[in-house]
Parts: sequence; C-alpha cells; structure tokens
Amino acid sequence: MAATRLHRLCAVLALALLAAAPAAAERDPLEELQSLMDGRSTRKPNLRSIRAEGLRVFAAPFTVEDGFGDGPFDPNEQPPTAMGHRPTLQGNGLSLRVNGLDAQSCNECHSSVSHATMPPTLGIGGVGGLAQNAMPGATVLDVTDSSDTRIQYEPGHDPDLPLKFDGVADFNGRFINTPFLYGGGGVELLAKEMTADLQALLADARAGAPGTVTPLDTHGVNFGSITTLAGGQVALDVEGIGFVDNDQRAPEEVLVVRPFGRKGDAFSMRDFDRGAMQFHFGIQPVEVVGAGVDDDGDGVTDEITEVEMSALHVFDVTNPVPRVGKLDRDARRGRQLFGDIGCAECHVPALETRSRFLPLAHPEVPEDPFANVYLEIDLVRVGFRPAPGGGVIVPLFADLKRYDMGPGLAESLEGAAIPNEQFTTARLWGIADTGPYLHDGRATTLREAIEAHGGEALAARDAFAALDEADADSVIAFLSRLRTPRRPNEELIGRARRRR
Ligand code: HEC
Ligand code: HEC
Repeated sequence: MAATRLHRLCAVLALALLAAAPAAAERDPLEELQSLMDGRSTRKPNLRSIRAEGLRVFAAPFTVEDGFGDGPFDPNEQPPTAMGHRPTLQGNGLSLRVNGLDAQSCNECHSSVSHATMPPTLGIGGVGGLAQNAMPGATVLDVTDSSDTRIQYEPGHDPDLPLKFDGVADFNGRFINTPFLYGGGGVELLAKEMTADLQALLADARAGAPGTVTPLDTHGVNFGSITTLAGGQVALDVEGIGFVDNDQRAPEEVLVVRPFGRKGDAFSMRDFDRGAMQFHFGIQPVEVVGAGVDDDGDGVTDEITEVEMSALHVFDVTNPVPRVGKLDRDARRGRQLFGDIGCAECHVPALETRSRFLPLAHPEVPEDPFANVYLEIDLVRVGFRPAPGGGVIVPLFADLKRYDMGPGLAESLEGAAIPNEQFTTARLWGIADTGPYLHDGRATTLREAIEAHGGEALAARDAFAALDEADADSVIAFLSRLRTPRRPNEELIGRARRRR
C-alpha cells in the first residue's frame, strides 16, 4: 500500500543521506519529534520526514491488531452512542457505519482533490462524496418514515400530516459531508491568536470598573462583548462562539475560537483528530485513555501514541493552501458583486495572522494556545503568503464565527451542545472542486447552496436571488476560480507527478 511505497522511498532517502551525513540519517523522525515533546531537544526537526510519518497515520488502514474497533458491546454505556463499547452491524464485530466505526483510514473519506474533473481527481487530505458522509450521534434512523416516539421530529416534520407520510426519515444524529484539510494550518493559527486575544479581553473586563462594556474584537471580527459587573464578575454576550449553556461554563471555556468541524466545535486539528480516531475507527489515543490502558477492552493498549498524534497534527497543519485561478473580467465582476450583496460579511475573503509561526502544543490547553508548545511551524514554508505586518494572509473566505442558517438547514441532533441551526461559516477557498455542498452535501451545485441560505444569511441570499442572470452567473464564475491545491501531499509518497 501507500505506506509500503512510502517506506521504500524513505529507505532510499535514508541511504542517500547516510552517504552524505551519517549523523543526520540516524535520526528517526518519531524519535526526533518525541525529544522535542519531552523538551530534550530544541533542534529544528526534519519536517518532511515527520510529515511523511503523519501521512502514514492518516492513510494506512488500521487493523484489529492496531486496536481497530470497539471492545465488547456494553448496553449500560451512557450515552448509548458513547465510543468504546458500541455494537456492530449484524454482530460482524467490526463496523457500524451509523454513529461511527465507518472506515479504516482517514484518507478513505478525505480522498478527493477535485470533484470538478472527469474522472474525479483522487488525492490525499481532500473532501468526500455523499457516500463518505459521517453520521455521528445517532440512536435512531427511521428509514421507512414509520412512527417512532423516541425521536425529535425536526427539522421539516409537518405535525399536520400523519406520521407515516410526511417523507421525513426522522433521524436524531448528524449527517455530514467530509471537508478537506487544505490550508488548515492558517485556520488554526488564526483561531489560536483570536483565542489569546479574547482571553486577554476577558482579563481587561475583569479589571474594569462595573458597567464597562468590552467589545470582543479580534483580527477584524467581532464576537460580541463582555460587561463588567460588581466584584470582578463579568456577563458574556457572545456571538458566533460558545455553547447552548454558556451560563453553566467558565467564561474562559466560552471564549475559545473553535473553527474545525462544520459546527465549529474543535479548537485545533489535533483536538478534532482525538475524536475522529475514536469515532471512525475505535482507535483510542493514549492522550485520551492513558498509557497502557485498554479502555475499550479489545485487548490492545496504546492504540495510538502521543507522538503519533503529534506527527498527524504536523501533517494536518502543513497541508497545502487552496489557490485562486486566473480571474477574467466576468469573474472579477463576480468578486465585486460577492462583496456588494453581503456574502463577504461572513465569507471574509482573507484574514491576517500576527505571526507566521503556528505553535503546536502538547498537552493542549484550549484557552491558552501558547502553553506547552513543542514545535512551531513556519506557515510561509507551507505556502501561505507573508503579510506586511509579519504574519501570513489566510485567503479562507470565512470569519471563524457561527451563524444561524435558518430552519431549512437545521440538524436534528438530540441534546446538541451547539444549536442545531448554527454552523461555522463555510470556508469557500477551493469551493470549485468540492461539491456536493453544504454541511450534509444536499446541494449539488453552487447555485443551490447559495439559494439554501436562510436565517442570518437570508438578506444576502435574497440579494443574490434579485441579481439578473448575467450578474448571478458572474458570482458563480468567481466562485468557480477558487480551486484546491495542485497535487497536494504527493511529494510525501514520491508518486510520479501528473498534470491535472
Ligand atoms: C467516514 C468519513 C471520515 C473519516 C474516516 C475521517 N473523516 Fe475527517 N471529517 C469527516 C467529516 C464528515 C468531517 C466534518 C465533521 C463535522 O462537521 O463535525 C470531517 C472533518 C475533519 C476535520 C476538520 C476539518 C475542518 O476544516 O473543519 C479534520 C481535521 C479531520 N476531519 C481529520 C480527520 C482525521 C485525522 C481522520 C482519521 C483519524 C479523519 N478525519 C477521518 C469525515 C471523515
Ligand atoms: C450570515 C453569514 C453568511 C452569509 C451572509 C453568506 N453565507 Fe454562505 N455560508 C454560511 C454558512 C454558515 C455556511 C455553511 C452552511 C452549511 O454547511 O449548511 C455557508 C455555506 C456556503 C456555501 C457552501 C460551502 C460548502 O463548502 O459547502 C456557499 C457556496 C456559500 N455559502 C456562498 C455564499 C454566497 C455566494 C453568499 C452571498 C450571496 C453567502 N454565502 C452569504 C454563512 C453565510
């Protein structure tokens, strides 16, 4: 498999290096990374070989010997969707599909660089088609639309129709289409800098006089405000971040920017990965269950180590940056209209970081992104353009905030920590290549995706609908220039270069 070819390539490279510099060749990439994590070394690591290790974690299929799968089913596990003791379909011992245990490798879903080419361009770290949608959180999926009192009949359930015939296959989980990893390093750095700013604003607000209102502004984005109360207490009025139960949580926990996942619920790619390992594969990270602990009872411990998760994180955040194709007159006009009709209020074309270095930390502290840093990644080397102020430009077409997208797009997850109608602003970079669109892939064209906007995006949608045909075409022409990276990550497997 890819991993074997990778090893062969590594072996060849290692031999070549051995001849030139014996000391360098002896450095095992995971050992090198481990010594950084332990603070035993501060030497600049060989990033490419660490990325290649990360690719192995991402693309090599997990087997039962690695700890793939959950342990024995535990009917007492609460909630019943909990990972570690799930049942398997027909008791086959391996897979479930709805609520996880749905693939053997990350790349099985993140597998398409472009769905705009014919045939689709397969590759590493890309998007998925509808068959690669994930369905977390579900205990009920009423595929025949029969009556069932255990579920919440939303969205779209018409109470005036008899239960059986409304055409809504009620479902109490999420149904989500696979996004790509490209440009993730820039997104993660933006989020970390924003979080650090919000936490500093919280400290200011606590030190302020009662009645002071501190706006939560960072990187040109507003996340609401904080009001100082008597006795150093504060009242949060946040926008686009937080949870349904902010008042039950410490302000520090609420004021964390979480750009990953379509709901915007993971503060870093590694944070997302910890859940993905358990959900998709039943692979239990040491950093979740502890070293030497067989938490799922499948007979395997240390299913994925901390250093392997670090290598995966390095791979995640060094994924190349989406690109913009040449804009002709029509597309330039579309770009202008995109701003004029209000799309850019949420889909902000570009944000700038202060620094060009993304800190990677372990263990991660969500509200203190600069704690426990073992490695900094230079995002200019990843392919981001430097910004005049010393940071990088992240051309993401988003603002890392969540919005209410209206009842038509709402999900129906029971007990959701983030309201079902809210999603983080989709990053439109690469959009020409990534259909189907929207969180569940329900839109097969860009036009449908735009027309499905509701809630806080209704005014912009209506402004789009009011455009004449030629202008609407220009907006689509502009979006059709936002492309995924060319041949992403192929240098890591040494595959022959191909033209797209
Ligand atoms: C069954 C398909 C599937 C598999 C397997 C899978 N993913 Fe994903 N991935 C998704 C979906 C769907 C989402 C969107 C999740 C959400 O909205 O909460 C996602 C989102 C992500 C994100 C966040 C991207 C962003 O910009 O928001 C990262 C990072 C990620 N996956 C990494 C991984 C890694 C690492 C693995 C392997 C451990 C993996 N995925 C395995 C389907 C998959
Ligand atoms: C109020 C904020 C907001 C405004 C204004 C807005 N959008 Fe969106 N947009 C979103 C969010 C949030 C999503 C993700 C919705 C989902 O996944 O269901 C999204 C999704 C999209 C998608 C699909 C992305 C994907 O990867 O599937 C496209 C295309 C898009 N928007 C284009 C536009 C255009 C064009 C306009 C202007 C007419 C616009 N949007 C205005 C917030 C907004």
